[in-house]
Amino acid sequence: MKLVKLIANLGYGSRKQVAWMFREGRITGADGEVLYADDSADPAHIRIDGEPLDPPTGLVLMLNKPLGVTCSRKDAGRLVYDLLPPRYRLRDPALSTIGRLDRDTAGLLLLTDDGGLLHRVISPKAEVAKVYAATLAEDLRGTETELFASGTLMLDGETTPLAPARLEVFGPRSARLTITEGRYHQVRRMFAATGNRVETLTRLAVGALTLGDLAPGGWRALDAGTVARVFDPPA
Ligand code: URA
Repeated sequence: MKLVKLIANLGYGSRKQVAWMFREGRITGADGEVLYADDSADPAHIRIDGEPLDPPTGLVLMLNKPLGVTCSRKDAGRLVYDLLPPRYRLRDPALSTIGRLDRDTAGLLLLTDDGGLLHRVISPKAEVAKVYAATLAEDLRGTETELFASGTLMLDGETTPLAPARLEVFGPRSARLTITEGRYHQVRRMFAATGNRVETLTRLAVGALTLGDLAPGGWRALDAGTVARVFDPPA
């Protein structure tokens, strides 16, 4: 791919704007040699104003989603994309969230521009585990663990029961839930089905991926070996 297209696709500007950047000599190799719009080069060796180029297509990000931001591209209010460099929103192929977290849910969110990966992760067949910490408005009754594990729980308005899910209880109103599906508002609706209400919800893990020391609002790019751990069971 010609450099002008590659760099425009990474959100640095329109092709016309990027062509100007070439004319101004702002785009160079790692050795400082000026590059031209029609050149092709290894993205790892390209510098813009002396800075390394953003990661090429195949990008996977882990974000520690804070409360109050939405996974949409165009909702009113704060979006997860506002937490990333503005350029990332202009990339082509576009960066999408792998599944969604509600505005009032915090924690581990993955984003990628790799459509194939996205579909492999959210495919029900993959049964990728999602682990949530929940605090509840009412005391647990004691029957939830068995009910959630049964594979018979039917959510309001649905026609197929939920796959078995694992509930670990830590206190009267505190639990960790592992699910392998991604139905709409699934965790909140599961507890609602037992007469309870989720007060706080945080996603701790997707597969074997955890947030580590990533602070709320922080993000990092993942290498291929780390991404592969999404298909492993949680630790
Ligand atoms: N389940 C929910 O209810 N909300 C989320 O954000 C994720 C899972």
